[in-house]
Amino acid sequence: MDSHVADPAGVDSDACYRALLARDARFDGRFFACVRTTGIYCRPICPSRTPKRDNVIFVASADAAESAGFRPCRRCRPETAPRLGAWLGTKASVGRAIALIEAGALDSGDVEDLAARLGMGEALDLFTGTTRVAAALKRAGAHVTAVDVARYSEVFAKARIETDAGAVDGTELDAALAHLQALPGRAGYVTETFCVRSRYFQPFNGARIDAIRDAIEREYRHSPLYPVLLTSLIEAADRVDSTTGLQMAYVKQWAARSHKPLELRRPALIAGRGRALRADACHAVAGLGRVDLAYLDPPYNQHRYFTNYHVWETLVAWDAPEHYGVACKRMDSRDPATKSVFNRKREMPGALGALVAAIDAEVVLLSYNDESWLDLAELVELCAVRGDVAVLASEGRRYVGAQIGIHNPSGGRVGTVSHLRNVEYLLVAGASDAVAAVAAEAVAAGEALGRGGLDVVDLHHVAGPGGT
Ligand SMILES: C[S@@+](CC[C@H](N)C(=O)[O-])C[C@H]1O[C@@H](n2cnc3c(N)ncnc32)[C@H](O)[C@@H]1O
Repeated sequence: MDSHVADPAGVDSDACYRALLARDARFDGRFFACVRTTGIYCRPICPSRTPKRDNVIFVASADAAESAGFRPCRRCRPETAPRLGAWLGTKASVGRAIALIEAGALDSGDVEDLAARLGMGEALDLFTGTTRVAAALKRAGAHVTAVDVARYSEVFAKARIETDAGAVDGTELDAALAHLQALPGRAGYVTETFCVRSRYFQPFNGARIDAIRDAIEREYRHSPLYPVLLTSLIEAADRVDSTTGLQMAYVKQWAARSHKPLELRRPALIAGRGRALRADACHAVAGLGRVDLAYLDPPYNQHRYFTNYHVWETLVAWDAPEHYGVACKRMDSRDPATKSVFNRKREMPGALGALVAAIDAEVVLLSYNDESWLDLAELVELCAVRGDVAVLASEGRRYVGAQIGIHNPSGGRVGTVSHLRNVEYLLVAGASDAVAAVAAEAVAAGEALGRGGLDVVDLHHVAGPGGT
């Protein structure tokens, strides 16, 4: 052992020592503590008694510790710590994934090509909704856990995130889709509720949705194809609906696409395994384990996804619920149990703050926009518990419902839209070097994709426990 090895350049010894005293898991794999008096090197999280400051030097890798003659500690096993190189790869991947997500390039072959070169680790999408971001992260090579309270979201996540495309028998899937596609329509709940009492679908398509949904329940309930077939049906219904995207209302005249016949297609499945959880993020977070990246896209305000996508919720639950109003929303939309703390103005800031602080992640990405109850300064403060915070901003168009104004059921214009563009924020929070690298990579990758709008508007330096 070379006991004269000095702390190497690039490792801030005082910051490392503070992290060592705190046994701060965020620094695991990012430096190693070599104890001169024992000849042993440890991880920052080692449960052994912390050595005196004068007896310890810090190095950036297990290799460096071993080349200087130190032996690995038997308690914390530093040779098995996550490697910095792997994490640097992750940061680059995350940055690129963000840029691709922002650019809406998720379905392009670029993402698949990119994934082959990336080495992403564990990722978490806590409010996964359509699973758009979780799917992008899975394509980029991450093992993803997708969490949401919605039933339709769980079905999407079971199909796109939990299902390994490589394990699906394509011939069996195509046969099931062809069988369902050929079923004659038979009017039922969907036809009566969403085609006659309201106008989400044309009746000829509604009757086919009824027949196909019944057959999926009857014939595939216990098959691994169940979530895949349900996803295919929801995607097919979505392609022929007569809304502007959200299911709060339908459009006055039948939308052009609603005249097309419903067509089941293979959903885009992704190779690799992942996890789908139907759970409240606030309750689930404690049991999710450590991840490299956690992405949070919670509801911004009182608008509820339960009612925004109530038709999908009913297609999945298949429980023929009582409904109310012109939009035929599920009666349980009024039930407080279906409301989220993130839709309550007074409770939301506390819940979000607690969640951001509790997540066991190297980097937290918080997606928000300027129409929310919290302004940017409050969001930054809330994220600062994790260390540094970078804010990426992009200007986007509001959803198309806002673009065409606000209408009553008979089609009369009843309101005007205040503004048609909004700013999307993505806050990147974590240790300083990770935040800087992720933000820089996201901007660079955004530029490479020809997206000028993505920009770092602010880089808030809030020294984390290590201050590195
Ligand atoms: C803004 S959306 C997320 C959109 C998603 N990123 C996407 O690309 O589709 C918010 C999501 O949070 C879910 N949600 C609301 N409260 C929740 C909670 N307490 N725990 C988990 N998910 C929740 C909603 O069901 C909705 O899907």
